[in-house]
Parts: sequence; C-alpha cells; structure tokens
Amino acid sequence: KRLILVGPPGSGKGTQSPIIKDEYCLCHLATGDMLRAAVAAKTPLGVKAKEAMDKGELVSDDLVVGIIDEALKKPSCQKGFILDGFPRTVVQAEKLDDMLEKRGVKVDKVLNFAIDDTILEERITGRWIHPASGRSYHTKFAPPKVPGVDDVTGEPLIQRKDDTAAVLKSRLEAFHRQTEPVIDYYSKKSILTNLHAEKPPQEVKAEVQKALS
Ligand code: AP5
Ligand code: ZN
Repeated sequence: KRLILVGPPGSGKGTQSPIIKDEYCLCHLATGDMLRAAVAAKTPLGVKAKEAMDKGELVSDDLVVGIIDEALKKPSCQKGFILDGFPRTVVQAEKLDDMLEKRGVKVDKVLNFAIDDTILEERITGRWIHPASGRSYHTKFAPPKVPGVDDVTGEPLIQRKDDTAAVLKSRLEAFHRQTEPVIDYYSKKSILTNLHAEKPPQEVKAEVQKALS
C-alpha cells in the first residue's frame, strides 16, 4: 500500500507508523526524522533546514521534495510506503503526484489524524524519543520501562528541541495555514479517512487497521 499520514504535531503519526509498517511491510519515510538526522550530522541539507525547524516553521518545499524523491528510489520502498509528515503544503502534494505518476503508481489512502489543538501541548512537552530509531515515548501516556532509557536498545532518550510550548504554537500555526489545505486536496480525491486521534493509542490503532482493511 501507498499511504500518507497527515495531522498536527503530536497527533500520533510517528506512534502509529511502526505498527503500520510492521503489519504491511512498507517503508516508513518521515521527513521530520530525516531532517533531524541531517541536522545532527551537520550535512549541507541539515544546515539549511535547522533554522526553520528550530522556529517551528516549514522547511522549503524544494528541500523536502528532493529528500522524498531520493528516498522513494530505495528498493524497500518499491512495494509500498508510508509518508509521515509529507506532503505538508499543496505544492508538495502536487509534486508528489508528479513523482508518482512518473513511476506509474498513485497514493492509495490518506489517514488524517484529526484532533483538537488543546490536547497537543501535553503530548508534545511529555515526549521523549530514541533518536536513532525514531521511537517515541511519553512520560505519562507511554512511559519507557526505565525512565530516560529506550526499551529496545537501552540507549538514552532525548527531548526534541522544538518540543516546547512556545515552538509548538508556531508549528500549529504552520499546520493550520499550510497543511490543512492538503487535507482538502485529498478529500476532493476521495482517498481521505478521518481518524479520532484524541483516543488512546490502541483505539487509534484499531481505526487505522479498519481504514486499511
Ligand atoms: P515532524 O517531525 O514531522 O513533526 P510534527 O509534524 O510536528 O509531528 P510530531 O512528530 O511532533 O508528531 P507525531 O504526530 O509524530 O506525534 P507522536 O506520534 O510522536 O517535523 C518537524 C519539523 O521538520 C517541522 O516543524 C518542519 O520544520 C520540518 N518538516 C518536516 N516535514 C516537513 C515537510 N514535509 N515540509 C516542510 N518542513 C518539514 O506523538 C507525540 C507524543 O504523544 C508522544 O510522546 C507519544 O507517545 C504520545 N502519543 C501518541 N499517540 C497518543 C495517543 N493516542 N494518546 C496519548 N498519547 C499519545
Ligand atoms: Zn513524528
């Protein structure tokens, strides 16, 4: 399957992705994770992206479209993929359509993680991640077995630099202004499914499975 996950910061895209990936054997392409890796490695791409990311603004369309175009060439992505956090502007959505058309495929389904803004601050400020794998935890909703330590590797967890209440405000603004039109874009193509992303993770998972069955 070829899937897109769209939703505001903290809506649960990264939490549900590994579950979908394991079940359907797809490649998981999260532009946020890829950009954070580039920033950490101080690559030219990372240097260009850092300022916007720190402020909670979107990185330029050309930069992220380039990353996705490259990533879609991976052998593991030929049978299907999950795009998590891409496309986030209508321009990105149109460029994705072009890229897929060239490859003779199209998007099967777009899952919209619909949720009220008021719930998101607690989710974002309590999040801890394992940077190497992208696994995320939450001090209250999904605590690791040992505080501050990844369950699988035993490596330390960190908080994202943009996971503050102040930066969340800009991220939400960017979402409403630039990404909500993307939801309309796919709704008009009749491939959009709305999820109740405010529910507990297991219930969201069940909705995802129903949407994909
Ligand atoms: P990105 O990394 O994509 O961040 P985001 O969209 O803000 O989304 P998050 O990762 O914050 O949320 P999530 O939905 O994955 O939440 P999670 O599942 O972890 O982007 C970062 C930045 O990169 C952007 O600001 C931009 O600068 C740049 N960028 C990236 N893509 C771009 C693009 N296409 N174009 C331009 N710029 C781009 O859950 C959050 C927390 O809640 C976790 O702690 C989790 O344990 C917990 N949780 C999850 N589900 C539940 C639940 N159901 N109940 C209770 N708690 C839950
Ligand atoms: Zn995420």
